Amino acid sequence: MQLNQNKSKKRKVTPSDKHQLSISQERYQIPKYLTLNNQNINTSQKYQILEQIGQGSYSTIFIVENKLHGGYYAMKKVLQDPKQINRELEIHMSMHHPHIVPLRDHYFTIENKSKYLHLVMDLYQGNLKNAIRVPLKRVAKQLFQALQYLESQNIMHRDLKPANILYQSGNIYLADFGSSKKIDGSKSLSYVCSRAYRAPELLFGQIFYNTKIDIWAAGCILAELELGKSLFFGQNTVDQIVEICKLLGTPNELEKAELGCQFYIPDLQAKKLSMIFNNIVLNQKTDPLLIDLLSKIFVFSPSKRISTTEALQHPYFLQ
Ligand SMILES: Nc1ncnc2c1ncn2[C@@H]1O[C@H](COP(=O)(O)OP(=O)(O)O)[C@@H](O)[C@H]1O
Ligand SMILES: [Mg+2]
Repeated sequence: MQLNQNKSKKRKVTPSDKHQLSISQERYQIPKYLTLNNQNINTSQKYQILEQIGQGSYSTIFIVENKLHGGYYAMKKVLQDPKQINRELEIHMSMHHPHIVPLRDHYFTIENKSKYLHLVMDLYQGNLKNAIRVPLKRVAKQLFQALQYLESQNIMHRDLKPANILYQSGNIYLADFGSSKKIDGSKSLSYVCSRAYRAPELLFGQIFYNTKIDIWAAGCILAELELGKSLFFGQNTVDQIVEICKLLGTPNELEKAELGCQFYIPDLQAKKLSMIFNNIVLNQKTDPLLIDLLSKIFVFSPSKRISTTEALQHPYFLQ
């Protein structure tokens, strides 16, 4: 996420924002009903690629048209690395929630001896990274509802960040299950989630963790939407821990044990969250109830960190 001192509402529109915004509803969301003579068309021929809209390290996202039934969709083409466990299809297929991107179809292709998975999803206009005016409380509520659902399915998203939350007309849709995992009692990689959103237990290298890592990331996202810049922005793992400690203070011995912290951390005093959110120079005053909710998310101990159900019952959402 770009560093920007202004509040998200006043963010400058970048060329990438403009690109996202060019995916206009007029061009791509009115279904065109095409009839093809050949009804036995196979799945890979069913979709015609129209435009590339995204590029990740393992995937490319396109706008496609369904030539059989009409309508425009997003298609994510993902390289299936045989050396890695590819959980994305199984997990995304099992997700059914109003704030999770619905998966409509999928198929595999082999190209130059490599296997690719194609995920066909509903198409949205943008994501929280490039969204301009975001109704924060509404977005926060939908995010916790989606996370509550994931928790009920024992799924950790493990890569929550603004770019992985699609946004359209005031609603969010959780996307990118490429790093997700079902909690099954097995060890997990601690090197998951982008650094700015990584929970302390991940930064300390824990290999047993749970859905509370996603709550931490959700807190970072909401803080970022409110501030217009990342809350914790370290240059490397140690720096990231220091950035967190500058706000939360040094973890105590019990917290260190729960986090699996084996390093020496210099003594740092905890600050009040309100000092960060209420900036007189920027004329910025954040809802005290949002600050209170965030203070219950930014807790070192995962077992003491607020749950999705508790978050949804927080007075911030009752107003
Ligand atoms: N269904 C969709 N509709 C519109 N844009 C999408 C959709 N799915 C993904 N994108 C865009 O493509 C980007 C990358 O998709 P993502 O699933 O996060 O892939 P990766 O695993 O490579 O990060 C997203 O940040 C978003 O901007
Ligand atoms: Mg992504």
